[in-house]
Amino acid sequence: MYEKLGNTAKYIQSIKKVTPQVGVVLGSGLGAFVDRIEDPTVIPYSEIPGFYDCTVEGHTGRLILGKVKGVEVAVLQGRIHAYEGHPMEDIVFPTRVLAILGIETLLLTNAAGGINKAYAPGDLVIIEDHINMMAKNPLIGPNIAELGPRFPDMTQAYNPEVREILATSAQKIGLKLHTGVYAGMLGPTYETPAEVKMMGICGADMVGMSTVPESIAANHLGIKVGGISCITNMAAGIQGKKLSHDDIKEQAVRVMNDFSNLLEEAIEKIGSMN
Ligand code: HPA
Repeated sequence: MYEKLGNTAKYIQSIKKVTPQVGVVLGSGLGAFVDRIEDPTVIPYSEIPGFYDCTVEGHTGRLILGKVKGVEVAVLQGRIHAYEGHPMEDIVFPTRVLAILGIETLLLTNAAGGINKAYAPGDLVIIEDHINMMAKNPLIGPNIAELGPRFPDMTQAYNPEVREILATSAQKIGLKLHTGVYAGMLGPTYETPAEVKMMGICGADMVGMSTVPESIAANHLGIKVGGISCITNMAAGIQGKKLSHDDIKEQAVRVMNDFSNLLEEAIEKIGSMN
């Protein structure tokens, strides 16, 4: 696995010699952020060894190398999910490749259903922590010591400094942000109202079907993680409305401008961290 990761990193470096400082994963419907990337080099996942093409509508499946506000970035436009049938090690493969390319910070973004009743569709939330409800973990199996320790600490899975940068960036651009706990479900069904109620009691503020595997893999690698959820809908049973992927994609598109402004501002600040 370690060799395979290295070969993929070499392939990417053969297309463009890069040393990205910040990695970004763009979730469902949030791909338009790529318009903010300066001097972009675009590589479709289908051309990258070890990467899988995205099968879900709203996920494009391209790696984009370039700069945002002068900071070198590697942006994954679209991700694969466990519900598509991929093993966890394939889901976190792109995250690990970005680590080998040199990223120090990873910004994970997603569309999520709001459990916290103070949220509304269109709100953006800084992820402060997660609950892994997938009954899977990308680190199961022999530990790859070159990547990280057998038992990684997850006390600050979402780096406090990065969270602070996201909060101050939002303030600067006049954007109201919440902070909350993300529950990661396997999917592909949306949750039942009873499941949503249980997760609320357990401390979750929002729910989605991604992010947790990449966050775990990045923490294993010692990379600072930041997370932003776009509340595309209230979770099942909160408003009594039925959920549809089309509505969810539409809502993500509506917040695109705020979302892109926030990411741009945060990346600039992260670029001057340390
Ligand atoms: N549940 C799970 N995943 C989601 C949701 C939801 O309500 N909204 C967007 N992604």
